[in-house]
Amino acid sequence: MLPTDSVKRLSFKRCVSEGDLVIVYERHDNMKAIKVCESAVLQNRFGVFKHSDWIGKPFGSKVFSSKGGFVYLLAPTPELWTLVLSHRTQILYIADISFVIMYLEIVPGCVVLESGTGSGSLSTSLARAVAPSGHVYTFDFHEQRAASAREDFEKTGLSSLVTVGVRDIQGEGFPEKFTGKADSVFLDLPQPWLAIPSVGKMLKQDGILCSFSPCIEQVQRSCETLRSNFTDIRTFEVLLRTYEVREVKMNSFQGDEDRSTELPPCKRKQRLNEEGNGLENPSPPVVMARPSSEARGHTGYLTFARLKCAA
Ligand SMILES: C[S@@+](CC[C@H](N)C(=O)[O-])C[C@H]1O[C@@H](n2cnc3c(N)ncnc32)[C@H](O)[C@@H]1O
Repeated sequence: MLPTDSVKRLSFKRCVSEGDLVIVYERHDNMKAIKVCESAVLQNRFGVFKHSDWIGKPFGSKVFSSKGGFVYLLAPTPELWTLVLSHRTQILYIADISFVIMYLEIVPGCVVLESGTGSGSLSTSLARAVAPSGHVYTFDFHEQRAASAREDFEKTGLSSLVTVGVRDIQGEGFPEKFTGKADSVFLDLPQPWLAIPSVGKMLKQDGILCSFSPCIEQVQRSCETLRSNFTDIRTFEVLLRTYEVREVKMNSFQGDEDRSTELPPCKRKQRLNEEGNGLENPSPPVVMARPSSEARGHTGYLTFARLKCAA
């Protein structure tokens, strides 16, 4: 998941080796992470795939089963990991994650504190953003979740960049040893306002906090607490619209009034212009794009604030 140099990602150069984590891609909504083991096989509806056939192939390869079915072998990235990880909690997704990393100004070398760790979805992207010289210290009060997150960071090769601690951050705050050391702090906690005084101590001068909350009442309460030590307090909701792009046969709409009206106006016009009486003649397939019905709506509010200078 890490860059080898400043220009290209590791995955562009590498071939699959024994012990590698690969993302097996069937379609955009069906992927899974698998550790490559020469003697193992993957069995799915497309047949039996021998891992030994994968070894030596470049990431991105299309590989075939004994029945002629195929999947793609993708290099693991934080973006893909977020889609395949095991959900032990609610998680942050790419739209929120990318906004958080940008707005918290996280760059290589930064020290970032996080709580709760949850399923480690955000932590994985934070780790890549601070690599190679920064570090993420993430805390969860749930021991089993912390242990599972640690295992995942080993699996994804990020364990040298992320340290997982077990701690009640709302009750005890972050450990004193981080006082004045954090470039940024991220909270995904049920009562973030309880942790905000500790965040104020942990941040370097001018450091930034982000708190993710699903409910506006949590945001209001956090903002009240932030006012004493923080400035530039802003709340955002990131809404992402994804599209399905499909090839459809125009004549499949013949005689179906309701569905015909679903076509975008430009496509309807094209049918009639090309065919004259286009509704009666078969026409070649066209590509249609429409907002995905599975698109995620509200996830949560992101509140950012910058530490006031004490002087
Ligand atoms: C929604 S999850 C975080 C998900 C995470 N942002 C991700 O992207 O995978 C919230 C986590 O906060 C933890 N948590 C709740 N209260 C806490 C507290 N007082 N101290 C530390 N962790 C806490 C929970 O155990 C849970 O794992």
